[in-house]
Amino acid sequence: RFILFLCMLVLCSPHSLAHPEEIKRSDFPSGFIFGAATSAYQIEGAYLEDGKSLTNWDFFCQINGSIENGDNGFVCDDHYHRYLEDIDILHSLGVDAYRFSISWARVLPRGRFGKVNPSGIMFYNNIIDNLLAKGIEPFVTLHHHDLPQEFEDRYGAWLNPLMQEDFVYFAEICFKNFGDRVKLWSTINEPNLFAEMAYIKGVYPPARCSEPFGNCSFGNSDLEPLIVMHNMLLAHGKVAKLYKDRFKSEQGGVVGIVISMFMYEPLTDTKLDKEAAIRALAFNVAWGLDPLIFGDYPPEMRQYHGSELPQFSLEEIKYINGSLDFIGVNHYSSLYAKDCTQSYCPLGGDHAVKGFTYTTGERDGVPIGNRTGMERFFVVPEGMEKIINYLKNRYNNMPMYVTENGYPSPQHQNLEDTLQDSDRIEFHKAYLAYLAKAIRDGADVRGYFVWTLMDDFEWDHGYNQRLGLYYVNRSTLDRIPKLSRDWYKHFLSYDSVDN
Ligand code: NOJ
Repeated sequence: RFILFLCMLVLCSPHSLAHPEEIKRSDFPSGFIFGAATSAYQIEGAYLEDGKSLTNWDFFCQINGSIENGDNGFVCDDHYHRYLEDIDILHSLGVDAYRFSISWARVLPRGRFGKVNPSGIMFYNNIIDNLLAKGIEPFVTLHHHDLPQEFEDRYGAWLNPLMQEDFVYFAEICFKNFGDRVKLWSTINEPNLFAEMAYIKGVYPPARCSEPFGNCSFGNSDLEPLIVMHNMLLAHGKVAKLYKDRFKSEQGGVVGIVISMFMYEPLTDTKLDKEAAIRALAFNVAWGLDPLIFGDYPPEMRQYHGSELPQFSLEEIKYINGSLDFIGVNHYSSLYAKDCTQSYCPLGGDHAVKGFTYTTGERDGVPIGNRTGMERFFVVPEGMEKIINYLKNRYNNMPMYVTENGYPSPQHQNLEDTLQDSDRIEFHKAYLAYLAKAIRDGADVRGYFVWTLMDDFEWDHGYNQRLGLYYVNRSTLDRIPKLSRDWYKHFLSYDSVDN
């Protein structure tokens, strides 16, 4: 009887982890959506066709040394001309939903200083209609790192509060034109990462640095990333309010935001490092969410920044507070956090915006998980459960979607190894197993999107990083399925065979 009891404990425990080998679609609740994700600048190409204007990225790519190998997104995966083929690919995969973004410069080449571009509207209408015709739900991001360069030239884009109105103007055009068919909206992709890469590290346009990092040509104030984030959060809030006031009752969709989320583990067992890990979460993750759920920046940030941190007026609090229907979770990796309030940290560690923590993927030279092709991306599957539980606890189990999770292949692989990507399959299975566990323990997660459908333009890394389920031949632009594509297809079809 004791053995029976033990077996039941193991088999029936709500806390047990499905072995990654056995993770199945049926381990997720019914109605849970599985998909794949992309973004406009990373796949579309056709950078100056049919009325599209130059984006910040088109401009940045032309500056020598900005992008690895001098790559650019001018032709990219040529999705602009091949979108029907790509929708067929999505259909053959068997996804429930497809997450993609709208190029602001294609729809409104000059923002609110010019006219709507009918070809841009037509392009996204075609995508949406063809997705729906194949039973695939569109999950649309309004802003995924790219914007018309004119905003930079005119007034420094997101450094300027005027951008909030620009974003509302753009969002309204999108809701009007696409909202009858699009029910899942996210306003901004990874504003926290954008603020860091573009205004601390200077590796995304407009390449401003608040620390003497890398190749930054000019330094600027520590406050810039805080200001950029502030403008983006207010822009989100205004757009969420617009949707609620003018579109929601008729269109019935939901609006969320997508945040880049690493999980942080203390570098050592000391109290200080444990506090540093908690602080790192507040300064990176809660920075973007607390204001939209509670109406102000995390207390941890207020404590350190004092009056440096921008304030929300009473009027602003009214519309940012409660402006989320869901949280979009982009999760790839965990890092160690080390305290920098009491001890010296290497350059880049003690920056105020990062919460006086130094984050690293290694302890005494030993990585926190298997390495991948990207420097700060390690394979730490249990981080998925931890980050979901962090959100569940801090935000009263608000609905969540894992809007991105993916694996950058290690470098210097030959084609055969690239296509035989069993390491990517192991990655997804293991992360999914921990996600399923968090859901069984009560987390309200409603979907999971693989980043990414096909190899694409990975920002400052150009085409040097591959995260796709499909390999893209850079000369012919043919899409060639990797082993992981077959695994995902099988995973997705499992239940339809079973039930
Ligand atoms: C998150 C970003 O949203 C996406 O654009 C990027 O390609 C992936 N992370 C991988 O770095």
